[in-house]
Amino acid sequence: MAKLRVGLIGVGRIADLHRLGYVDNPRAELYAVCDVDEGRVQRRTREWGVNKAYTDYRRLLADRNVDAVEVITPHHLHAPMTIEALEAGKHVSVQKPMCLDVAEADAMIAAARRSGKLMRVFENFQSYPPIMKAKELLDSGAIGEPLSMRIKCTQGSPGEGWKIPQGTLAWRFDPAQSGGGRVIFDYGYHLFSIAIHLLGPVEKVFAWITDRPVQHGWVLDSPAVVIWKYRDAEKYGSYEAVTSDNILVQTKYWPEDEWIEVTGSAGFLWVNRCTSMLLDRPPLVMYRDGVTTEFSNLDSDWATSFVNGTRDFIDAIVEGRPVPLTGEQGKAVLQFCRAAQLSAREAREVRPEEIR
Ligand SMILES: NC(=O)c1ccc[n+]([C@@H]2O[C@H](COP(=O)([O-])OP(=O)(O)OC[C@H]3O[C@@H](n4cnc5c(N)ncnc54)[C@H](O)[C@@H]3O)[C@@H](O)[C@H]2O)c1
Repeated sequence: MAKLRVGLIGVGRIADLHRLGYVDNPRAELYAVCDVDEGRVQRRTREWGVNKAYTDYRRLLADRNVDAVEVITPHHLHAPMTIEALEAGKHVSVQKPMCLDVAEADAMIAAARRSGKLMRVFENFQSYPPIMKAKELLDSGAIGEPLSMRIKCTQGSPGEGWKIPQGTLAWRFDPAQSGGGRVIFDYGYHLFSIAIHLLGPVEKVFAWITDRPVQHGWVLDSPAVVIWKYRDAEKYGSYEAVTSDNILVQTKYWPEDEWIEVTGSAGFLWVNRCTSMLLDRPPLVMYRDGVTTEFSNLDSDWATSFVNGTRDFIDAIVEGRPVPLTGEQGKAVLQFCRAAQLSAREAREVRPEEIR
């Protein structure tokens, strides 16, 4: 069977990790790239050995050789680009957050239904091996009935980490392009997605979010604490985000890290790192019946989550099956993020379905 031909729209900083999903992929090739930055698109084409280069995404969508696209642009472009791509007959993987609001999410879901093509929201933490293993253990009852979860996030300074260009940061602090909320929306989308993925749908949310001026006139929504109750039981979760330039985050990627604790009726699971290598501990640890089990041999390179997530998208197209996050799942995560932001603004509990 011929390989699927994929085009990337937006080849900025994170596209480096998307590209890895096509290296030695037996089912797909990276066929085209598109970016409004002509120098960048030329460099990517050369370095990655890609066939086609575009600076206008509509021209890429008109290319009949392209079977599927990945939308990897600033957030305000996710909905229009996804809808146009579906209408052009392409399968679409769109980076998180799915879009800016529920109306856009509904329009994307409707466009996918009309087109009969696959649309998925790319959220890489769900494809990160320590989280995949934690999910498998939870689902098998390894720590009994899940009772609560706690997510801790820290943004700090990189050591020899990735260089993040100013342009990659700047649009994230412009609410018109990013939808507002570097920590709770742009980045938080990952963690709220994991909160649902591991323990189920959420009934109500409460949050305190500090809007703090930082450099360049930007406003950072951190420190923040978000708490929530799950829908199906007296089960609770929390997310705490703290930012400090004085914390050195050993990383190969963004200078931030996350660790997650899930409590069950018979034990605990700890995911000790995701994006970076801040804690010198095994990536996954389980406690049950007086025994601590360390899962030290899991692949804990964050880039692997991109490779897994990309391959899953391609496999889903070939096999004609859905793939997480589906449109509806992506919309639920968006409502969760927005519920936290609304709760902080109005100092009250918010149910995600209030977000319309
Ligand atoms: N963990 C993750 O999965 C993760 C991490 C980082 C970023 N992201 C997501 O990836 C996306 C891109 O983030 P980034 O950090 O690479 O940002 P970036 O600014 O480095 O890259 C965005 C690229 O889009 C290009 N672009 C802008 N408008 C365009 C248009 N009209 N047509 C074509 N290209 C256009 C820009 O020139 C730029 O090269 C965002 O949606 C972000 O949320 C996800």
